[in-house]
Amino acid sequence: MDLKNKEYIDNIKSLAKEKKAVIFAHYYTRPEIQECADFIGDSLALAQQATRVQANILVMCGVHFMGETMKILCPEKKVLIPDMNAGCSLADSCKAEDLAAFKAQHPDHMVVSYVNTSAEVKALTDVVVTSSNAKKIVDQLPQDAKIIFGPDHNLGSYINSVTGRNMLLWNGACHVHSRFSLEALLELKKENPGVEVLAHPECKAPILAQSDVIGSTQALLQHTIKSPAKRFIIATESGILHEMQKACPEKEFIPVPPEVTEGVGCSCNECEYMRMNTLEKLYACLHDEQPEMVVDKEVAEKAVSSIQRMLQMS
Ligand code: 13P
Ligand code: SF4
Repeated sequence: MDLKNKEYIDNIKSLAKEKKAVIFAHYYTRPEIQECADFIGDSLALAQQATRVQANILVMCGVHFMGETMKILCPEKKVLIPDMNAGCSLADSCKAEDLAAFKAQHPDHMVVSYVNTSAEVKALTDVVVTSSNAKKIVDQLPQDAKIIFGPDHNLGSYINSVTGRNMLLWNGACHVHSRFSLEALLELKKENPGVEVLAHPECKAPILAQSDVIGSTQALLQHTIKSPAKRFIIATESGILHEMQKACPEKEFIPVPPEVTEGVGCSCNECEYMRMNTLEKLYACLHDEQPEMVVDKEVAEKAVSSIQRMLQMS
């Protein structure tokens, strides 16, 4: 680790200690951000953990909807987020007014929403899910329930396939997970015969069809720790490789590259929104105690029940 980063990390940790603040980071953030965190986790673990800590200042290093979820669950706490502009292409693919109009066309349907949504969308939702509990929660819904699932079409198709449901799917996607190259994956499998493929359910169906293990970031990490295998092909945002490599230094992780479209995005599998969390911004955010997450009271009061229902059903 370069010295500048190490100094920054030490300063951030001592400032957090001084302010009795707790730092949370998602697995997709930069390695140096994960090094500052008191808790690293997937979307579900971060939401659960936020409700358990005593601190009055919570810093969420992730993306906007994660800070919002934290604030909705802990309205009396100060929730800070290093960059308010850290959005999510998947959350952006479902606007609350569009969902409201869709609901009006299907008044007999309940709404199950992925946690990657705005507070306004959660306020229109019956139950929120994450990639680690979606199957478990959908399995608990009445067999004859008519369900709208959004916004991730890939996750929705996968959950339909493993639950035997026929949920009505919103047509949203994550720009990182939907661009993994099937051709490159098939090539990697040919070059590495017998090596297990681990994929996040936000990936497209052809990628999932080629995968041995499908799960949330946390589930994939746990699998690499428990499995006796020494090498894995990984189809999810590359930030998770930091924690995998740290937990299993003797194992090898081979990332699946994205499709390369000339002039569009980078040729890596990084989420640029997650990468907006930098050490400089994290330090400034702790120091200045801003930007602070604010959620409209009325929206938060409606959204909290769909999140609480998820926590009860997990
Ligand atoms: P999980 O953390 O639930 O695996 O979801 C990944 C994700 O898309 C975060 O943005
Ligand atoms: Fe959103 Fe995709 Fe980034 Fe996750 S990886 S925060 S789903 S854009």
